[in-house]
Amino acid sequence: MIVFENISKIYPPDSVALENISFRVGKGEFVSIVGKSGAGKSTLIKLLLREEEPSQGKIYFDDYDILDIKISHLPYYRQRIGAVFQDYRLLNNKTVYENVAYAMEVMGGTDYEIQRDVPQLLGIVGLEDKFGNFPREISGGEKQRTAIARALAMRPDVIVADEPTGNLDPYHSKEIIDLLEKINEMGTTVILCTHDKEVINSLKRRVITFDQGELVRDEEKGRFIL
Ligand SMILES: Nc1ncnc2c1ncn2[C@@H]1O[C@H](COP(=O)(O)OP(=O)(O)O)[C@@H](O)[C@H]1O
Ligand SMILES: [Mg+2]
Repeated sequence: MIVFENISKIYPPDSVALENISFRVGKGEFVSIVGKSGAGKSTLIKLLLREEEPSQGKIYFDDYDILDIKISHLPYYRQRIGAVFQDYRLLNNKTVYENVAYAMEVMGGTDYEIQRDVPQLLGIVGLEDKFGNFPREISGGEKQRTAIARALAMRPDVIVADEPTGNLDPYHSKEIIDLLEKINEMGTTVILCTHDKEVINSLKRRVITFDQGELVRDEEKGRFIL
């Protein structure tokens, strides 16, 4: 489904973020990309979202070379990828419900679809009693669950989560990882980037390890060793 082929990224003038990275992610997989801060994880996600372009190599999404996507089609491409970040990126003047509804509205969702889907999405992430709360009124874990519901609203093929537990304590981190596993079991491909050993070692899933821009390990049911 997603193929990274000999990807290198050098930020000008000479900051090497990724060096000759190749791997593929199959439909329905749950893949963790791990490595210390600076290893190149976020750069890989930015390349996949086409927020950055590789210095070398190709990225295919369902056999399409994503560098061939025209600027005018980028929003449609990006709809297929639900992105979740460490800092949640919620709209603070909108409620939990409105944050998810607004994302659907922007993407052209009808009122009917919004009223049908938002309660369902908030149910999946366990926020059925927080519809009317603003981000400042909920915990970090709940904010991240709101962000995940919003990412799911576009019915993406893949969820990419870049350090989704970076601001959470171990208990709430575990809840977020459990939720990502549940979403994966419902059929969505998941790519999780983290530098958190606890998170990875509790997951018995494929682990790809980056070290200073290089892919140093790719293991089924891996562990985080650095
Ligand atoms: N916009 C940028 N300009 C220059 N260097 C960058 C930029 N973004 C990231 N880097 C460098 O690329 C390397 C990888 O960074 P990043 O992908 O953010 O790693 P990670 O997400 O694993 O912490 C680091 O050395 C970082 O300093
Ligand atoms: Mg990062």
